[in-house]
Amino acid sequence: MIVQPSSGTALITGASSGLGATFAYHLAALKYDLVLVARREDRLRNLGDRLSQRYGVRTEIFPADLSSDAGIIQVEERIRARNDLTLLVNDAGFGGGGPYFRADIIRGADMIHVHVVATARLTRAVLPQMTERRRGAVINLGSVAAFYVLPGSVLYGSTKAWVVAFSRGLAHELKGTGVRIQALCPGFTHTEFHDAPEFEKMKDTSIPGFLWMPADKVIEKSLRALARGKTVYIPGLRNKILASLPRIPFAGPIIRRIARRHE
Ligand SMILES: NC(=O)c1ccc[n+]([C@@H]2O[C@H](COP(=O)([O-])OP(=O)(O)OC[C@H]3O[C@@H](n4cnc5c(N)ncnc54)[C@H](OP(=O)(O)O)[C@@H]3O)[C@@H](O)[C@H]2O)c1
Repeated sequence: MIVQPSSGTALITGASSGLGATFAYHLAALKYDLVLVARREDRLRNLGDRLSQRYGVRTEIFPADLSSDAGIIQVEERIRARNDLTLLVNDAGFGGGGPYFRADIIRGADMIHVHVVATARLTRAVLPQMTERRRGAVINLGSVAAFYVLPGSVLYGSTKAWVVAFSRGLAHELKGTGVRIQALCPGFTHTEFHDAPEFEKMKDTSIPGFLWMPADKVIEKSLRALARGKTVYIPGLRNKILASLPRIPFAGPIIRRIARRHE
């Protein structure tokens, strides 16, 4: 049984697959109307139609590329124009990149846009309507990677560390306003995230099965934690242990050696 944080309308970025689409299912089941954002319009449309038919909720499809300022501004404007959001899920993201000194800087800048600029700007766009109504929540997708020094994924880890720090600071600022913030930090989760060619080795071999979590479980746990008001939330005991490993003396070099095998 999922605990309902508060119903209303939720805007989800990255809703065309994985954790974002799973958020959409869970929130539709809780009777949220939805605004679904990502680049692949056909996927959003299929999802929106299915959720409307199954749960009787209203769904709006809003295709946008969050790696561009233009795409981010379009979503910001939609958030302000609707003026009815009770939940924003900043989920859109992607991984990979390889060693930074060899990395494609355009892809890197895209990652900063999707993980950092879009999260900061969309959150800023939605907060005035939420604080005025004294009701609402923002869930920002971090990662267990936020707690690591990860050679080969430096930009990924550091943008996710920003998500965690941003959410922590914001949660303090918003105390007493009725608005909740969550940095959701999953570990290895079955989605399309690891379908990128650079994750081929990781998928097939070296990550033990017990470390993977189904997307459904991540979302159920996230929504329960939101109802409890947990700001930095790591779903599951195994992921909590994973996230705390970097604080253990001598664990750092071992983790970095494993990470280098995936470069
Ligand atoms: N899976 C994991 O193991 C894991 C672990 C920790 C954290 N996370 C985080 O969870 C979030 C969701 O990832 P996922 O695992 O669900 O992966 P996924 O299945 O690949 O989904 C990623 C979503 O982000 C969207 N997206 C990517 N680039 C975009 C752009 N430029 N503009 C708009 N939307 C964009 C994609 O939609 P379009 O391609 O249609 O645009 C897709 O809907 C990410 O922030 C990721 O970092 C994942």
